Amino acid sequence: MHERASLPGPRPLPIVGSLLEFREHGLLPIYLGHWRRYGDVIGYRFGPQRAVAIVHPDHLREVFIRRRASYGKGLSVRNIRPLIGDGLFAADGDLWQRQRRILQPLFTVSAVRAYGAAMGEAIDAFIARWLALPPGEAVDLLPEMSHLAMDVICRTMFGMAAGAEAGELSAAVSEAFHWVGERGVKLLPLPLRVPTPGNRAFLRAKARIDRFIRRVIAERRRRGPRADGGDLLDRLLQATDEESGERMLEEQVVNEVITVFIAGHETTAVTLTWAWLLLAGHREVEARLHAELDAVLSGQPPTIEAVPKLVYTRQVIDEALRLYPPVWLDPREAFADEEIAGYPIPKGTLIMPMLYATHRHPEFWPDPERFDPERFSPERAQGRHPLAHVPFGGGPRVCLGMAFALQEMVLAVAALGQRFRVRRAYGTLMDLDPKAGTLRPRWPSLVEVERRE
Ligand code: HEM
Repeated sequence: MHERASLPGPRPLPIVGSLLEFREHGLLPIYLGHWRRYGDVIGYRFGPQRAVAIVHPDHLREVFIRRRASYGKGLSVRNIRPLIGDGLFAADGDLWQRQRRILQPLFTVSAVRAYGAAMGEAIDAFIARWLALPPGEAVDLLPEMSHLAMDVICRTMFGMAAGAEAGELSAAVSEAFHWVGERGVKLLPLPLRVPTPGNRAFLRAKARIDRFIRRVIAERRRRGPRADGGDLLDRLLQATDEESGERMLEEQVVNEVITVFIAGHETTAVTLTWAWLLLAGHREVEARLHAELDAVLSGQPPTIEAVPKLVYTRQVIDEALRLYPPVWLDPREAFADEEIAGYPIPKGTLIMPMLYATHRHPEFWPDPERFDPERFSPERAQGRHPLAHVPFGGGPRVCLGMAFALQEMVLAVAALGQRFRVRRAYGTLMDLDPKAGTLRPRWPSLVEVERRE
């Protein structure tokens, strides 16, 4: 293809480039303004670092699928690496391939059915929590959904409820994550070995996480797998590489447990929060959801067998993920000189696929801001570009936990929607937090929970 000259984009300031503007207002709102002005491919500079934002599904296909050998995680994961080491999310090359081969069988649609019972226990405990709420009391949805998602991952992974021992782990993960987030917007982050208060707090939290996980692994090895068929930890400890027959080294198990623990709850908590807020603002959608729940479940709690029948429930979740994809940016580094849309992409460029904007691309999504789960009906979804809806990424690196997350979210929306109605308390705004790592609401999302009798 004929190469075009330079990339469209804002004129960067000397030395810092666009970093100050992004730091001040958050990357996403500034980018959306640029997208309207400059179009689908935009060049940036962050200090000496070149970056390119992309949004069109055809360009995502180049990076995630067709030319994927030229792109890896590389520098895009440098801030999270001190926390998860070479865990799957941050791994590249042969290591990523081997780890994906080992972990994939634990997360297929049929494998995650085994976690249905533990998910159900967490959801039942959560229903009891909401039944105990004094009538009319407002609750903040995000912490509520985080509590539920944390309990799901603790029960499925360690066979223990959150808040018991696992509470220690979640507090340490939040602390460590805070450091990862802050580092992303620092002009000159000091190396971890420099004992700044922030670095010391991170290292303390990381040591607590490692101690917890090593202890749980050691206990499990001593006692042997659980009698009831096992949890995710049992399966991780027994997982073998089908090519070499080898098991993971202890170090890698620790990294994968931290990775799955982190990846496995924040994203689902954020999605469920947006889903309830959207339902609260769209009574006609809520009414259709209730009609499906009443027809399919006939008053019984949802089971794994019911999940494929809850078609509209799934559409509601898909549409919430379209409007508010928790991972709104899914970055890569160009490992080789490349080209996107005819523009040269030099090796070392940071690639920024803006999934939030892809989900609003006017070529694929008419009236994009409207909440309309019908977009995902089989008729309307037919023939749509396969990368127009990519909340879980795309290609071989697609989210490992996709089936797990969808099963969990369908079960949770069904079980809670069967019992409760969420009403936005006066003044609750649907506004994004421009600086959060995942796509969180900006303000406390206060709601009232009504019982459906
Ligand atoms: C709504 C829920 C979730 C969303 C939106 C989400 C989204 C994503 C995205 C966008 C990626 C990056 C894909 C890429 O690099 O192109 C990813 C990777 C990953 N996710 Fe999720 N995720 C969710 C839930 C989960 C859950 C529940 C788990 C585990 C139980 C999980 C485990 C992982 C892992 C291990 C990776 C790394 C995969 C790899 O690099 O091969 N995720 N996820």
